[in-house]
Formats: sequence, C-alpha cells, structure tokens
Amino acid sequence: MLRNSRTSYGTVAIVLHWTIALLFSGQIALGFLTQAMADRPRLQFDLYQWHKSFGFLVLALALTRLAWSLSGIRPIPLAEMPRWEAAAARAAHRLLLALTVAVPLAGWMIASTSPLHIPSFAFDLVLVPDLPLARSDAMEAFWSRTHATLAYGAGLLALVHAGAAIHHHVIRGDRTLVRMLGARADRDRRRIP
Ligand code: HEM
Ligand code: HEM
Repeated sequence: MLRNSRTSYGTVAIVLHWTIALLFSGQIALGFLTQAMADRPRLQFDLYQWHKSFGFLVLALALTRLAWSLSGIRPIPLAEMPRWEAAAARAAHRLLLALTVAVPLAGWMIASTSPLHIPSFAFDLVLVPDLPLARSDAMEAFWSRTHATLAYGAGLLALVHAGAAIHHHVIRGDRTLVRMLGARADRDRRRIP
C-alpha cells in the first residue's frame, strides 16, 4: 500500500522516512567533518560541495514528504500508549519534519549571504541559484551559527526519537517500530503472541 492507513505507514512514508533519516544523519557527520579540515583547503572545498549537494537532496525529499503527509492521513497512536506520550511523540515528529526542511534552508542561506560567492553545483550537475539576499560577513556568520545550532539540535532530538522507538520495540514489545519497517515486519510481529 502506497498510502498510510489509520493503523499503518504506507510504502512512500516508510521509504521517505528511512532515506531522509540516513541522509540527514550522514549530513551532520559530513558538516562536522568539513569543520575539521581547515588545514586541508582542497579537501575541505570538495567536502563542502558534497555537503551542499546532499543537503539540497534532503531539502527536496523533506518538502516531498511534507506535501505527502499533508495530503494523507497519519496512523493513530497505538492504543496502549498513554495520552501524554502520544502527544509528545506527535510534537517530536512535527519538529523533526520542520527541522529536515529548516536545516538545509539555513545552509542555503549561508551560501547565499557569503561574500565569497561560491556557486552551488548539486552533484556537479545542476547549478542551484543562490537566494536573493544581501551578502555580508555578518549575515554569513549569523546563518552559519543558526545552521549549526539547528543541525546539532535536530541530531539530539533524532537520537532521543530513535531511542524511544528502540525502547518501544525492545522493552515494551509493541508495534511502534515494526509499523515503520513495512507490512511484512508488522504482520510477523502481530503473529507473535
Ligand atoms: C540535511 C541537511 C544539512 C545538515 C544536517 C547540515 C549539517 C551541518 C553541520 C552539522 C555543519 C557543521 C556546523 C559546525 O560545526 O559549525 C554544517 C556546516 C555547513 N553547512 Fe550544512 N547541513 C545541511 C545542509 C546544507 C546545505 C543545503 C548547505 C548549502 C547549500 C549547507 C552549507 C553548509 C556550510 C557552508 C557549512 C559550513 C559553515 C561554516 O563555515 O561555519 N549545509 N552543516
Ligand atoms: C535509527 C533511527 C530512527 C528510528 C529507529 C526511527 C523510528 C521511527 C518510528 C518507529 C516512527 C513511527 C513512530 C510512530 O508511529 O509513533 C518514526 C516516525 C518519524 N520519524 Fe523516525 N526514526 C529514526 C530516525 C529519524 C530521523 C533521523 C528523523 C529526522 C531527522 C526522523 C523523523 C521522523 C518523523 C518526521 C516521523 C513521523 C512520521 C513521518 O512523517 O515519517 N526519524 N521514526
């Protein structure tokens, strides 16, 4: 099933979730690595180009996911979950969804306000135009701080989120994680009494 139902995630939501989760986590590591390469400018430049390319890909996927989730329904929380926990999970999901859009956007702001005018070629194929913003060292520094704060904040929230999913699976033994793994895993889990 492509679309979500009231009780399970559809294939599109599942594929987008795991692709974005993987790319987003990789981007945090890559962004951190670029900062550690200040003494190797050639390598640092190449890493920046990869970082920007994958960042634009995350932005496109996150916008697709946002449109997809707004156009369909969300699975309801599991019956055994207390109300406060369902509300907290929902708030965390909304925040993660927003951050997967906001973090690459803030990165795009850095490139667009930098007085260095370095063009952004996504995967050496497409020139992504800069946003029409005034360029100055102060604006570049502002967006750089904002980008780093949002990225590391999102990383922390994603860690708590992943920890909660694993807690549900291992300690509580409920369907929270398996319903994000697809119909077959979900069916297999339901068969276990
Ligand atoms: C999923 C998307 C992204 C994530 C998770 C991410 C994450 C990060 C992280 C963790 C850093 C290191 C920050 C620090 O330690 O100071 C960083 C740096 C940077 N990112 Fe991203 N980024 C993303 C997308 C983008 C995009 C789309 C662009 C530009 C088009 C971009 C441009 C930059 C630049 C220029 C820096 C270096 C900032 C500086 O010199 O202080 N990022 N990013
Ligand atoms: C190992 C890492 C991860 C695990 C195990 C995991 C697990 C899950 C599970 C089980 C759900 C469904 C929860 C429910 O139905 O109540 C979920 C939903 C969600 N997760 Fe993750 N997740 C991980 C990483 C991430 C990352 C890195 C992000 C974003 C940066 C993310 C964003 C979301 C969002 C926005 C939802 C809401 C449903 C949707 O729109 O796809 N997750 N995750």
